[in-house]
Amino acid sequence: MPAPAERVRRVLAATAVVVTGTLAVGMAVAAPATTDAAPTLGQLAAAKGRYFGSATDNPTLNNAPYTAVLGSEFNQITVGNTQKWQYTEPSRGQFDYRQADQIVAFAQAHNQVVRGHTLVWHNQLADWVAGVPAGELLGVMRNHITNVAGHFKGQVVHWDVVNEAFEEDGTRRQSVFQQKIGDSYIAEAFKAARAADPGAKLYYNDYNIEGIGAKSDAVYNMVKSFKQQGIPIDGVGLQAHLILGQVPSTVQQNIQRFADLGVDVALTELDIRMRTPRDAAKDAQQAADYRTVVNACLAVTRCVGITVWDFSDGYSWIPSVFPGEGAALIYDENFAKKPSYWAVYEALGGTPTTTTTTGDNGTGCTATYRVTSQWNGGFQGEVTIRNNSSTALSGWTVKWTFGAGQKVTNLWNGKLTTSGQDVSVRNESYNGSVGAGGSTSFGFLGSWTGTNPVPTVACATA
Ligand code: G3I
Repeated sequence: MPAPAERVRRVLAATAVVVTGTLAVGMAVAAPATTDAAPTLGQLAAAKGRYFGSATDNPTLNNAPYTAVLGSEFNQITVGNTQKWQYTEPSRGQFDYRQADQIVAFAQAHNQVVRGHTLVWHNQLADWVAGVPAGELLGVMRNHITNVAGHFKGQVVHWDVVNEAFEEDGTRRQSVFQQKIGDSYIAEAFKAARAADPGAKLYYNDYNIEGIGAKSDAVYNMVKSFKQQGIPIDGVGLQAHLILGQVPSTVQQNIQRFADLGVDVALTELDIRMRTPRDAAKDAQQAADYRTVVNACLAVTRCVGITVWDFSDGYSWIPSVFPGEGAALIYDENFAKKPSYWAVYEALGGTPTTTTTTGDNGTGCTATYRVTSQWNGGFQGEVTIRNNSSTALSGWTVKWTFGAGQKVTNLWNGKLTTSGQDVSVRNESYNGSVGAGGSTSFGFLGSWTGTNPVPTVACATA
């Protein structure tokens, strides 16, 4: 098996890749190959020298609509469960890689790099580990790392070597490793991982360390001390299991301070949960939150990539752990792209999908044009007309000129007139009257080839 960089180089050479990039730290990332002219999140991220990936789990590999998205949209995959200890060493000295191998093979078949997750964690640990005598646990831990990281040598670009070793107040979590080996277990784990797979970047990974606080301070101090001592650590994973409207204000500053220690940073398990059901206001807030997080990563050169913790709301861990919450991801249960998807898409440099213009005659109507979904050759759009004046409107007309040969193929809640690239939509009899401060909308289906840029729209009253 070639080293990861060589494997990716071969993949790039053999595939019609639309966009590629190379990280400053030397990890080439491939953009997924596609026949769809609209760039994927993976392609957009690759153009910025980063990856945009998703976690996945074995049961979903048999779900064709799911794998169609997983295999095309992302250029990185994290093994969501089956590289954990309970799966890989269920009995002492008995290793089983069958399930994890399936996910790694899927990733390789789709030109996606793999983050390995995770070698040492107090959770999803095989039951037998709790009974290992204190004097033997260091050897058991080293043996586990040697075998697992050795098996996947050359196939993972990052390993989450140690996961969630700190409490919220910055003290060490009293895991079996902490209790029986002591503080040194984390450094020992990194040393064993480096020996087993010298080509993989080695990460410490945790949650609630996205912003500056007691817990992230503790991780910061550990990384600083590891760097001073020459303990082989290459990166810090900020899991980023976030809450709607509560993205920490210090995310970018925090990413930067880790980078300044000489390590990479990755957002490893991003999701932004809300009270369900979704509504338009929550979706808009979630889109803004995703945009903030992606922008924070892009602002720091050493922030090398972002992974969502699965991509569809139908396959998220949230509802089972936080009853009444969910809808945390970028696709809905039916694999339709959510506003959060488009926020990520735009933050990564994709063509904006929405625009708002003021009225052309000073009477105060505004029109907002939005691409609500897009697929190869087609798209659905929506235009919202808002009356910003203090008096009611009795009628409206919205006009735009398509810039890339798009066509409206079907339109509802408005009367369509077209002339070449010019489109004019007048109200129907039933939706021309819009009260002060009120709004109405019409929808349409369109076709496109090449690109689908958002046009400038103009709104006129009467
Ligand atoms: O495999 C069994 C299946 O046989 C059984 O029928 C079923 C019944 O509940 O359980 C299945 O195991 C579940 C496993 O996921 C695989 O689906 C466990 O109950 C369930 O607890 C486990 O949850 C995982 C969780 O880690 C455990 O803490 C989630 O899928 C996984 O997404 C989640 O991931 C963690 C990261 O590793 C670390 N950071 C936090 C993140 C979210 O909790």
